[in-house]
Amino acid sequence: MINRPRRLRLNEKIRSLVRETSLQPQDLIYPMFVTEGRGVKQEIAAMPGQYRWSVDLLPAAIREVEEAGVGHIMLFGIPAPEDHDEIGSAAWAPDGIVQRAIAEIKSHSDIFITTDVCLCEYTSHGHCGQLDANGYVDNDKTLELLAKTALSHVEAGADMVAPSDMMDGRVAAIRARLDEAGRVNTPIMSYAVKYASNFYGPFREAANSAPQHGDRKSYQMDYHNGREAELEAALDVAEGADIIMVKPALPYLDVVARLRPQIKQPMAAYCVSGEYAMLQLAVSQGLVQPDIIYESHIAIKRAGADIILTYFAKELAWTLQADELQEVKQ
Ligand code: PBG
Repeated sequence: MINRPRRLRLNEKIRSLVRETSLQPQDLIYPMFVTEGRGVKQEIAAMPGQYRWSVDLLPAAIREVEEAGVGHIMLFGIPAPEDHDEIGSAAWAPDGIVQRAIAEIKSHSDIFITTDVCLCEYTSHGHCGQLDANGYVDNDKTLELLAKTALSHVEAGADMVAPSDMMDGRVAAIRARLDEAGRVNTPIMSYAVKYASNFYGPFREAANSAPQHGDRKSYQMDYHNGREAELEAALDVAEGADIIMVKPALPYLDVVARLRPQIKQPMAAYCVSGEYAMLQLAVSQGLVQPDIIYESHIAIKRAGADIILTYFAKELAWTLQADELQEVKQ
């Protein structure tokens, strides 16, 4: 026999030499939820191990993220119920929940902050933009609101903005507004390929952002479609997106792999709340080994993602640190 692939699997030393994919703490972005109040660290029922933090507790929470070796977070704001309105104006308030959270974090740490730019957490109807008379999300009117929101995050100190609303033309609108304000070096990570997915269920509980009527299918993508992902990604690249994201991740790795050869920009994939909930539950019940978490994230990288947004970021980074220590000791 000439070809014996098992030769390269004989022991860990040879396996690690020929390994094609790796995962490092710097690949990870940890999503965090910030809420009103003081002294609040409230576990999210559908996402055991994930919390809503009040602004005053964020610096300590961020210290834990940094200790794990994670240098990037994604911030989601949950405003007070009385701050919701038809157009989501609390999203761009200079003293809004995200704006205050950024300022507080940055006064203690230089962790890299990306903000989710969307209106669904701020609108009374829970849709990601302004509605017209028929209850349809008005694309072009929403662009202005998103651009304002993105700029207000950047003015508060955000390092990168990530629009997740799925309006057409939002990357161009945000880019133009940031540039006008002299923020030419602030990157945009676009949720370019975002499907209307059932996997966002736990997030909507976490952020109180479920739509009050209908669903998001008139703006988020139909999950029967793969070719359309190429169109969405190409449009966002043309509009100036610096990083292209696919979301969800694990059930959509075909889409990540399909886009990889086409997209020269870095690609991100978001392992979303429903993916987290399923893995976390199966591990906590002892149905599967905890290593399933690492394996799942390796699969996302193998498919072609450079960056992973994941609620497992801290625990993955701890595992990776521990593995490294062991290798040093050997
Ligand atoms: C806001 C937004 C959502 C998620 C990220 N940004 C929810 C949605 O689109 O309904 C989902 C993240 C997750 O499920 O972890 N539009």
